[in-house]
Amino acid sequence: MIDNFAELEIQCKQCQKCGLCETRTNVVFGVGVPDAEVMFIGEGPGQNEDEQGEPFVGRGGKLLDKMLEAVDLDRKKNIYIANIVKCRPPKNRDPLPEEQTACVDWLRNQFALIRPKIIVCLGRIAAAKIIKPDIKITKEHGIFFEKGNVLMMATLHPAALLRNPNNKPAAFEDYLKLQEKIKEICDHTYED
Ligand code: URA
Repeated sequence: MIDNFAELEIQCKQCQKCGLCETRTNVVFGVGVPDAEVMFIGEGPGQNEDEQGEPFVGRGGKLLDKMLEAVDLDRKKNIYIANIVKCRPPKNRDPLPEEQTACVDWLRNQFALIRPKIIVCLGRIAAAKIIKPDIKITKEHGIFFEKGNVLMMATLHPAALLRNPNNKPAAFEDYLKLQEKIKEICDHTYED
């Protein structure tokens, strides 16, 4: 466990714990405010993220930012966004279980320093790793699970919403539920 966020980022960016380090352009450490009460967790970087070194910066990221903005959340102001794996899997394949295992300690360390009250998993891969392995995202999105004093919810992955725009209204309901939950339990997320 590294107890300083800047040092954690430096160490993470030098990681060679799995084969993804050989094909990456950038390590995508995470983005947001280090005292965030809400943390979003995606699966792993795609091509745009690999090139720019920041999570969710492609078309899916634009959609994510739009939904966040509608509930007064903003990666620059009041949340933190990270991924299960910090390096892009080639051709955007799912990260392998051993890659997830090799990488997840970085995420655990980020979580330990940020200490969010709420975690939102973007898509099945993150939800299976963080909430429960057999989660059925189509049925269980928008439901809050409590684990070790942290509330965790899964929602549909923004890329899945681009493929299936019919699911956007249902996904947006999750963001509205999140907004209600933040108002209920968070102290400073919506402060100016
Ligand atoms: N998809 C993810 O899961 N994470 C990103 O950072 C980008 C796309």
